[in-house]
Amino acid sequence: MLDFISLVKRRRSMRKFKPGLLDSADLNLILKAALMSPSSKGLHSWEFVLVTEPGVLCELAKCKTQGAEFLAEAPEAVVVLGDPAVSDVWIEDASVASTMMLLQAEDLGLGSCWVQIRGRFDAEGRPAGDNVKRLLEIPENLEVLSIIALGRKGMERKPFNEERLLMNKIHMGVFSNPFVK
Ligand SMILES: Cc1cc2nc3c(=O)[nH]c(=O)nc-3n(C[C@H](O)[C@H](O)[C@H](O)COP(=O)(O)O)c2cc1C
Repeated sequence: MLDFISLVKRRRSMRKFKPGLLDSADLNLILKAALMSPSSKGLHSWEFVLVTEPGVLCELAKCKTQGAEFLAEAPEAVVVLGDPAVSDVWIEDASVASTMMLLQAEDLGLGSCWVQIRGRFDAEGRPAGDNVKRLLEIPENLEVLSIIALGRKGMERKPFNEERLLMNKIHMGVFSNPFVK
């Protein structure tokens, strides 16, 4: 296990994967990390659908106009859902759970990438979430936030360089004051 800041530095989006499913122990840890994510009022407004079937992954890759194509070659993916009737902040709950999976995957040395579904559309203007829901038989009351692609890393990605972080995004006390290290 890496120390946390090294883990954060090394996590980069991975869109190329080696073939082969994850070890089930690794996959379980990733799913458990999602289930242990903080949620507003502890309401756990999320649900997750694990997809490993190559034909289904190919269909998911076509659910929106761009940015999902690489799912066709991903060994597996977790579709992250939220229930607006359970929490008015289901988007935040599902986003935190998605992030936890990205970090747990990196801790295991695995590759991952967030694919945005909420607010995205296919070429005919249909919501990407409706396409995903139809394909995976997801109940109408649930919304699709994201799909987290998972697999063994298929390429090198450079870790973040601490010297190049956007420190000007941080303000001290009032917005006009720059933060000085
Ligand atoms: C909310 C959100 C939506 C994203 N949607 C997509 C997407 O649809 N397709 C994709 O390939 N990457 C997507 N990404 C990954 C970003 O492109 C990536 O995090 C960003 O370019 C920074 O690169 P890094 O993750 O390697 O640091 C998304 C990331 C976030 C947080």
